[in-house]
Amino acid sequence: MLDLGVLVSGSGTNLQAILDAVAERRLDARVHVVVSNKPGVPALDRAERAGVPAVVVPHRDFSSREEFDRKLVEVLRAAGVKLVVLAGFMRVLTPVFLQAFAGRVINIHPSLLPAFPGVGAQGQALAHGVKVTGCTVHYVDAGVDTGPIIAQRAVPVLDGDTVESLTARLLEQEHALMVEALNRIATESA
Ligand code: GRF
Repeated sequence: MLDLGVLVSGSGTNLQAILDAVAERRLDARVHVVVSNKPGVPALDRAERAGVPAVVVPHRDFSSREEFDRKLVEVLRAAGVKLVVLAGFMRVLTPVFLQAFAGRVINIHPSLLPAFPGVGAQGQALAHGVKVTGCTVHYVDAGVDTGPIIAQRAVPVLDGDTVESLTARLLEQEHALMVEALNRIATESA
């Protein structure tokens, strides 16, 4: 069984995909805690509805990225987390965090990495006029959206797509991909 902690900053639809898969026994995992760097985001409500402890650690309360990361590590360790999922978490983690959970942090990104890293991946795809983009789940290393790839799905870009329409099509595949990637890790670590 995977002992998960999920870091979020926003809507939390990928978190919801994990919570649903666990509830429906499509994923052998337990989400021990959800941590947000922003108060009042929908992801926190999703955690509470699922009976998962939801903690806010506002990054602005800390004088440095390292101090913030130390607090995250403390909260995750205290909850018994072994694998950390970044699901729309909008902060870059420092070596303080990555060394504490070495090889045990994964991220989901709305492009076929290594194409279109960083923010605004959907807009980047539209600006380049690619006909196919997709989503990626990968292990996190010190770079931004780099690190070994676990799983990917391709998604077509359609004529007339906007950032909104492409984002929605990608998110649907992200939700399936997230569960697929976690199941792969669960199988490999069993
Ligand atoms: C997703 O597109 C994810 O790939 C990116 O941020 C978005 C988070 O969406 N890293 P949600 O909060 O899971 O709904």
